[in-house]
Amino acid sequence: MNDFLKAMEFRHACKLFDAKKRIPKGNFGVILEAGRLSPSSFGLEPWHFLVIESAKVKEALKKAILNQPQVTTCSHLVILLSRKAKFFKQESGYLDKMFGRTAKDIKTVEAAKISFERFLHNNLEADTTNWAKMQAYIAGTNMMNAAAFLGIDSCPMEGFDAGELKKSLSKNVSEFDKKSYKIAFVIAFGYRVNESEEKVRCSIEEIATFVK
Ligand SMILES: Cc1cc2nc3c(=O)[nH]c(=O)nc-3n(C[C@H](O)[C@H](O)[C@H](O)COP(=O)(O)O)c2cc1C
Repeated sequence: MNDFLKAMEFRHACKLFDAKKRIPKGNFGVILEAGRLSPSSFGLEPWHFLVIESAKVKEALKKAILNQPQVTTCSHLVILLSRKAKFFKQESGYLDKMFGRTAKDIKTVEAAKISFERFLHNNLEADTTNWAKMQAYIAGTNMMNAAAFLGIDSCPMEGFDAGELKKSLSKNVSEFDKKSYKIAFVIAFGYRVNESEEKVRCSIEEIATFVK
């Protein structure tokens, strides 16, 4: 089988990790790099990865993540954050900074900003909060696939109380910048205890249509 598909088969939503096993720094670096190199709409990279390694902090966050055992048994718990809507306003400075990285002059930055504004109103109904979260999901997906390629397990988690998790992060993680970011979702990374179940998926015929 193709090596990439082998990794996709290996990846499953791991429900329990071996709490004694730690992901080596180099391998976790590859996972983070896969997130960093991910594509994003307009190249705005509206994400931040809060990497929790502390057992004490994981324990403190567990209740808000509905006591899921992955939280305290994993090696690295990543809270994927997405930028708040205020950053995508024309006057925020964020668009200038980000578009300025590749634009050759100020006129090109202004043109990119106008194009973004048009996109915002035509395609997003100005809902940049959810749009930014969607970008974080792309980065997180690449991180999980990179992990699987390295034989590392993961579990994506939306099963949390958003208000409680925000409160708990504010209380227990001084690095959490709640003024700038919202919580998109959570991924636990580590090593499985139990073998995975056989995959249940619709067939290609059910989910894909070829137009020739
Ligand atoms: C965005 C998202 C949120 C999820 N949230 C949870 C969760 O909170 N807890 C959990 O155990 N699994 C969670 N899952 C895992 C799914 O239930 C799982 O991916 C799906 O049933 C397919 O199984 P597989 O990933 O093992 O192939 C989530 C998956 C996704 C993509």
